Amino acid sequence: MEITINLAIKKKEKPTDESKLGFGQTFTDHMLLIDYDTNRGWHNARIEPYGVLKLDPAAVCLHYGQEIFEGLKAYYGKDGGIYLFRAADNFKRLNYSARRVCMPELDIELAMEALKKLILIDREWIPKTRGTSLYIRPTMIATEPFLGVRPANKYIFYIIIGPVGSYYPEGLNPVKIYVESKYVRAVPGGTGEVKTGGNYAASLLAAEEAKKKGFTQVLWLDGCEKMWVEEVGTMNMFFVIDDEVITPSLTGTVLKGITRDSVIKIVRNWGLKIKEKSVSINEVLAAASSGHLKEAFGTGTAAVISPVGQITYKDKDYIIASGKMGEVSQKLYDEIVDIQYAEKPDPYGWTEKIG
Ligand code: COI
Repeated sequence: MEITINLAIKKKEKPTDESKLGFGQTFTDHMLLIDYDTNRGWHNARIEPYGVLKLDPAAVCLHYGQEIFEGLKAYYGKDGGIYLFRAADNFKRLNYSARRVCMPELDIELAMEALKKLILIDREWIPKTRGTSLYIRPTMIATEPFLGVRPANKYIFYIIIGPVGSYYPEGLNPVKIYVESKYVRAVPGGTGEVKTGGNYAASLLAAEEAKKKGFTQVLWLDGCEKMWVEEVGTMNMFFVIDDEVITPSLTGTVLKGITRDSVIKIVRNWGLKIKEKSVSINEVLAAASSGHLKEAFGTGTAAVISPVGQITYKDKDYIIASGKMGEVSQKLYDEIVDIQYAEKPDPYGWTEKIG
C-alpha cells in the first residue's frame, strides 16, 4: 500500500532543554494514519501534519473503550544513526491485543514501513542526550458511529511520536510503591494482559489515592485472592532474592512486557538465576524483613529499569536496598541502554538502524 505524505507547512517549536522533557507532553510535526473498514480492509495510509482527529461523538471507542495502543522508542545512536528497539515485537503485541478486543490486525510490514517513514520525516525531533528518546505511541480506535454493543466496522490506526526523558520525575532514583489491597486491576479471563485503555482507566483511582499518600505507583495484587504480585500498571516487576532474580509469571492478568522479556534474556545470558513464577506478597515481604530481598525494580518501555526503594503494605514500610538503586538493577539499566543507543553490539538482534 502506498503511503501518501503531506508535509506540515508550519513547523512547531522544538523543546530546547532536553533535561526538562518529561514524558508524553510534546509531539512532533507529523503523524501517521491508516483507515480500516470491513469492506475495504486497511487503506488510505498517510502521513499528515500532527493535529486533532475529527471523530463522530457516537464513535464506538468513546463509549465502549474499543481501543488499543503500544509504546516503543527510537534512539539517537552514538554513531549518529537512528535506532528502533524491538519494534516488530510491539506490533505483534498490538495484534495480540487487537484479537482480544475484536479489532482488525495490522500488516506488520506496513506498520514498520510507515513508522520508519514518520520517524525519518521528524528525525530532527529525536533528542540526543542519554536517557532521552523518541517515544512512539501506535494506537487503534473504533470510529464507527454506532451505539449498539458489538465490534465496530470502522477503525483508525495512528502513530504519534514525541521526544521524552524519564517517565517518573524521580528519574533513576528509587520509587516508592504502595501495595494495593482494596482495588484490583485485572482478573483471570479479563483483559489484563493486553494494552487496552480500559485497564489504565481502572487503575486511576488507586493511583490517585496512593499519590496522595506520597507514593509514585501502586503494586497490583491478583484480583481473586489479593495475594499474588502482578505488576505496577506502567511496569512489570522483578525482585532479587538472595542470588535469584524472580518475576511474576504471565498468567493472563499481567502485561506481556517487552522490556520484561529483554531483562529475562539478558539475566539468563549473564548466567544468573532467573525464575518466572507465582510470587506472593508474603514471600516478598518476608524476604524484605529478613534481609534476603536485595533489590526490586520495574521494567517498561517508558520506565526502562526503575528501581523500587520502598514497598508499603497495610501501612507497614519495607525499605529495599537501603532505598538506593541496586547493583543488578544498575547493571541491567546500563546493558539495555547501551544496546538501545548502539553503544555496545547487540547480540540479541533487538535493534534496527533506520537512518
Ligand atoms: C510504556 O511503557 O510504553 C507504556 O505503554 C506504559 C505507559 C502506560 C506509560
